Amino acid sequence: MIYLDNSATTNQKPKEVLENVTWAMNNSANPSRSGHKAALAMSAKIFEAREVLCKIINFNAPNRIVFTKNGTESLNLAIFGTARKGGHVITTENEHNSTLRPLFNLKDRGIIELTILPCLNGNININDLKNAIQENTYLVAINHVSNVTGGVNPIEKIGDFLKDKNILFLVDGAQSIGHIDVDFTNYHIDLLAAPCHKGLYSPMGVGFLAIAPNIEISPILCGGTGSFSEDLAQPKDIPDGLEAGTIPAVSILGALGGATYVKNHYSSIKKTFSQFRYMLYNSHLPKSVKVYSVPNNCGIFTFAIDGISSAEIANILDEKYQICTRSGIMCAPLIHKRLNTQKGGLVRASFSSFNTLQECKIFLQAITEIVNSL
Ligand code: ALA
Repeated sequence: MIYLDNSATTNQKPKEVLENVTWAMNNSANPSRSGHKAALAMSAKIFEAREVLCKIINFNAPNRIVFTKNGTESLNLAIFGTARKGGHVITTENEHNSTLRPLFNLKDRGIIELTILPCLNGNININDLKNAIQENTYLVAINHVSNVTGGVNPIEKIGDFLKDKNILFLVDGAQSIGHIDVDFTNYHIDLLAAPCHKGLYSPMGVGFLAIAPNIEISPILCGGTGSFSEDLAQPKDIPDGLEAGTIPAVSILGALGGATYVKNHYSSIKKTFSQFRYMLYNSHLPKSVKVYSVPNNCGIFTFAIDGISSAEIANILDEKYQICTRSGIMCAPLIHKRLNTQKGGLVRASFSSFNTLQECKIFLQAITEIVNSL
């Protein structure tokens, strides 16, 4: 099998992940609850995970890394936790439903006004953002890399523009983290949401939200935190107050292993992705193959073939060639509307650092053979 659905979740995990997950299973204890040695050992590992994530994103406040169960929950926490009645939010056509749906929920309930910026060539034009700012704008929510087109938004420039304004900058790093630089501090990001099971190679079940100092967020989940237990109000301290209930410690330890792997192999990971980029975007595919993604270093390649539906292409790739891809809308409806592909969607092949150039070659050959068989 050739697994090319790594933007949904990475299939092959580094040995560091397996080792940490095994340790977690052999040393199971609820962190931040009891004071015995087993619980303290688990708490120490969880803190190590916060620290290594901080290193990956260049952030120096490990206690402001809040663990969630996935990128969607991280984005929901950021969006609902900062919602302001009568406020205005700016987002983009590139966004995943994990950003769009919470924002439309707030809009439809009359809580916020919403502006959606166009993404004409894979990303926004920063002048459109500048023109969209209103007096009541309090949040700009933008993904770093589109999960459909691989388009990279100019996060650094946006952060620079917003840094002196009283506007929160929320970045969805789902498709960028682990592949390209996400510099929380130097990009002036206020809130960074990401899953850990994609470019950070953890098991599914964990994501995080990094929250800049001085930013207050209301919890979206209340309950036990193991702290201030006599108080019936949810504690305000971070991360405890935003991590109610038992946290997914096994997956978090997997994230510790995956993030450690990424940190230690980052330059070779980047080299691998640039080789995929070269091979994918310089290949001589038949004319009836229309490529919709833009050349990117996140391993995303999205296409359609004239005369055959995307679902059918993915099915042939799976059945005949044992190549796993994803077809359809990929939970990002607005960018498909822009591309006029909302009807049948597209096929996406997405690579990880564990794929090989030989696999990439076989995939490209398979597309050519499918075209020739029509
Ligand atoms: N958001 C993930 C994807 O794009 C699941 O496939």
